[in-house]
Amino acid sequence: MTTTFPIEEKINTLLRQMTLNEKIGQMNQLSGTNEYNEEMIRKGAVGSFLNVSDVDDAKRYQKLAVEETRLGIPLVMARDVIHGFKTLFPIPLAQSCSWNEGLIEEGCHIAAKEAKAHGYHWTFAPMIDISRDPRWGRIAESLGEDPLLCGRLGAAMVRGFQGDDPAADDRLAACAKHLVGYGAAEGGRDYNTTIIPERSMRDTYLPPFKASVDAGALTMMSAFNEINDIPASANHFTLKQILRDEWKYDGMVVSDWGSVTEMISHGFAQDEKESAKEAINAGIDMEMVTGSYVKHAKELLAEGAISMETIDNAVRNVLRLKFRLNLFENPYFTGDTEEVTLCQSHLDAARKAARESMVLLKNNYMLPLKAENTVALIGPLTHAKEDQVGCWSMDLVSESSVTVKEAFESSAFSTTFAAGLDSPRSTETKGFAKAIANAHNADIAVMIVGEDAILSGESHSRAFIDLPGKQTQLIEAVAATGTKVVLVVMAGRPLTLGSVLDKVDAILYAWHPGTMAGPAVLDLLSGIESPSGRLTVSFPHTVGQIPVYYSRKNTGRPPREEDRGIPAGTPLNPEGFASYYLDVDFRAQFPFGFGLTYSTVTYSTPSLSTNSISTTGSLTAFCEITNTGDTPIHEVVQLYVRDLVGTVTRPIKELKDFKRVALAPGETATVKFTLTADQLAFHNRDMQRVVESGEFHLWIAPHSEAGDPVSFTVKT
Ligand code: BGC
Repeated sequence: MTTTFPIEEKINTLLRQMTLNEKIGQMNQLSGTNEYNEEMIRKGAVGSFLNVSDVDDAKRYQKLAVEETRLGIPLVMARDVIHGFKTLFPIPLAQSCSWNEGLIEEGCHIAAKEAKAHGYHWTFAPMIDISRDPRWGRIAESLGEDPLLCGRLGAAMVRGFQGDDPAADDRLAACAKHLVGYGAAEGGRDYNTTIIPERSMRDTYLPPFKASVDAGALTMMSAFNEINDIPASANHFTLKQILRDEWKYDGMVVSDWGSVTEMISHGFAQDEKESAKEAINAGIDMEMVTGSYVKHAKELLAEGAISMETIDNAVRNVLRLKFRLNLFENPYFTGDTEEVTLCQSHLDAARKAARESMVLLKNNYMLPLKAENTVALIGPLTHAKEDQVGCWSMDLVSESSVTVKEAFESSAFSTTFAAGLDSPRSTETKGFAKAIANAHNADIAVMIVGEDAILSGESHSRAFIDLPGKQTQLIEAVAATGTKVVLVVMAGRPLTLGSVLDKVDAILYAWHPGTMAGPAVLDLLSGIESPSGRLTVSFPHTVGQIPVYYSRKNTGRPPREEDRGIPAGTPLNPEGFASYYLDVDFRAQFPFGFGLTYSTVTYSTPSLSTNSISTTGSLTAFCEITNTGDTPIHEVVQLYVRDLVGTVTRPIKELKDFKRVALAPGETATVKFTLTADQLAFHNRDMQRVVESGEFHLWIAPHSEAGDPVSFTVKT
């Protein structure tokens, strides 16, 4: 095989030489190492592996494929490199709170470098499922609730993994997943049913996938869930009409683990053979682990249930990936694992990412800590090397994790330590006494609480999303000493902190920050840097309020400012008759986009270059922001728009752009956004993407509930 021919020619030449069995083999992906898998390689009955975790095994398997099969087609080796490989970065939801595309891109580049050195070519990331239900464990893997942000950050991840050349020694093929709607699972129960009207699909759930396609993602993964009664892995509307016909995608689509044969449980296919038929005909090019293609495709072809053209197209997509990764020329590449793994520059990048991912939710002038403060470190996540890294940490080297305890103990702070509880879910309170005594004797109690890593991620949904175990009681007991409490929450989802919110003086939401959790928390609490993270999901007051997201509809009975629940003594039948709960504020506890810094910032009323644009025009919006405090900060400036009247109802706000702006103390910056009419487009009653004329409101604000709007009109 020479490199001088275009890839499509090479694919066709190879395809002509392949037997039917060899073709079907390319459509099969297996997991791990065992004798059966080796036998399958020799027979040419497998095109890819995931989870071959030993570099020598990976090389051996590749050698079998390249040297002991008739055509020598190399394997493509995959792994879930989701938020780092050995150097673990914050969970994706945390990373999204940095709103920093460059930082996220660099983190994925580092992950790719480490994974490629270990023999992998392909990662199953980014996960770009719009997630609006914090009960869902996989919200941890997501980039939050907003389509624009999720699309931009997902595209940054694709660029980070793939670079300009995904075949390079430090890059991997990316996989945008899970196509599509997985995050809309009923009740936040993983794998559950989704009902998504076509307009929501096109305006909310699909845009991040389109952004990944535009960023060049080489592969996509189909989801487990059914969408409007058709399993996502058999869905012609999403996989064929949208992906192939409308977007002209020529990458490869892999099923999720078992999502082909799960069509039997869905009640959509009566057996494996039928599920294989449905998936192949829907355009799932490669089946992950369940082997139904290998078992049944030949027979299905003979019966005319699938066509040779469909098989050839699938194999073309698989081979295209392998050519794009240059595997035919360079099948054995592995790097110097010692040199790249957990090296200082990677640890520094992970520390920076962790710092920028954390969100300061409350600060009663407690932070930053003063150098002379004596600190009682308390809580089950103060020294938890495995839990601090979060949900996707299969390649973790636990000793590499630096905990908050270790970071503070090697700092100038005078500290004591008492876990209080052995683990976040523990209900055994015998450790409380030491924690309380330490708090008594300290100026400040820094409590590191939250969820263990296993409480989020795949199949780890929760019906109650408060602090598990006896952590609330521990916080109450420590706060009762009178010592001020700074809470650091490590979690895989927004938690409902309830009464705890008022008992503590500061809250830093750290999510699961990864390998460098400790130093990053220390950097922020000690004031080396100001927090700059902003929420990318709305925090509910209570589970009963879910779903709560900023981009909601107004309804015919919108709640008013004063509709915040019924205070005691309110007479029966109060004013109201609006869309809210009697017993809780209709707003989020902490809104999308929210996050404090160690300073204060003022925003001027936005000014517009024009108040009227055509449906193909654009305007520039300006805002002056001033750092009125004495700390250097990064401000995340957010541009929101509301389309006041549409031919279909429109959300009360939509994020259209954002910028991270560095501001020295006292500095004023003019932030400028260009807004094109095209950014206002949505799908109308006829499901056409249109820009409609009418009046719009525009905000430039520090979060989704702040600021006053200015108006502009779009004219035809
Ligand atoms: C998950 C995917 C993951 C795959 C391979 C599945 O269970 O849903 O996100 O990439 O396993 O590990």
